[in-house]
Amino acid sequence: MDIKTIDALLNKINESATHEGNARTKQVVNRIIRDLFITIDDLDVTPNEFWSALNYLGEAGQSGELGLLAAGLGFEHFLDVRLDEAETKAGLAGGTPRTIEGPLYVAGAPESTGHARLDNGNEPGETLVMRGRVLGEDGQPVRGALVEVWHANHLGNYSHFDKSQAEFNLRRSIRTDENGTYSFRSVVPIGYSVPPEGKTQQLLDLLGRHGHRPAHIHFFVSAPGHRKLTTQINIEGDPYLWDDFAFATREGLVPAVKKEEGATGKPYGIDGQFALIDFDFSLVKERNNVPTSEVERVRA
Ligand SMILES: [Fe+2]
Repeated sequence: MDIKTIDALLNKINESATHEGNARTKQVVNRIIRDLFITIDDLDVTPNEFWSALNYLGEAGQSGELGLLAAGLGFEHFLDVRLDEAETKAGLAGGTPRTIEGPLYVAGAPESTGHARLDNGNEPGETLVMRGRVLGEDGQPVRGALVEVWHANHLGNYSHFDKSQAEFNLRRSIRTDENGTYSFRSVVPIGYSVPPEGKTQQLLDLLGRHGHRPAHIHFFVSAPGHRKLTTQINIEGDPYLWDDFAFATREGLVPAVKKEEGATGKPYGIDGQFALIDFDFSLVKERNNVPTSEVERVRA
């Protein structure tokens, strides 16, 4: 179809508006519709294909997998890269790299100062201690910063979404102490995959892709006057470390996992061998000339 014919059709649609509406919504939606019209025409998308795609999106929404789909199709990582670019343009450098939040955060986890235990003591897996500081732009520790941490259990499932787990299992909020330090005890998480029978996997199969994530731990790190950090650390050695279906692994987010035992475990009540990760989070100051790093989205 001639592009002029497409644009004439779009004009007719746009001119059917009877009131002002929302300028931003009109701008974005009208652009997407034009791009899709052109795609349908260029690729000769059949009516069957169109309705099949629309039905797919409806089912993906009903099954609650649109957040997973956004991660798997790279949208969430793309938004991170764009925010990185905006920060670089504004002359903002340094800080722990951000990476995707994913769709499984739950607000309201129990809060403590300095240290927290994330598991209930019955969690299978290798005992883990992660500890470090939250640092400001000047390299000085930030006291009272909030480290929100959440990760999957040994089956790759998250509490709240997995009703077999206790409320807030493997989820905590830790305030850094007067020295700007945090620590937590938990078990080393394993990697997981999107639901094998789900809508995300269905599309990934058609794209010739897998739906695996390497083992990781999620964080929000925030402190007054600083840009909120959304990030993850990965567990080194995972076979999917650099082959994440959600593209979240980044340089600087793969700390060493050390094998420890003895006195190092004492402060955390650990007698035997355990895995230890030392990791400092670095925050940058909030600025007016950069888009906010505080993302609004519907969360549990
Ligand atoms: Fe995750």
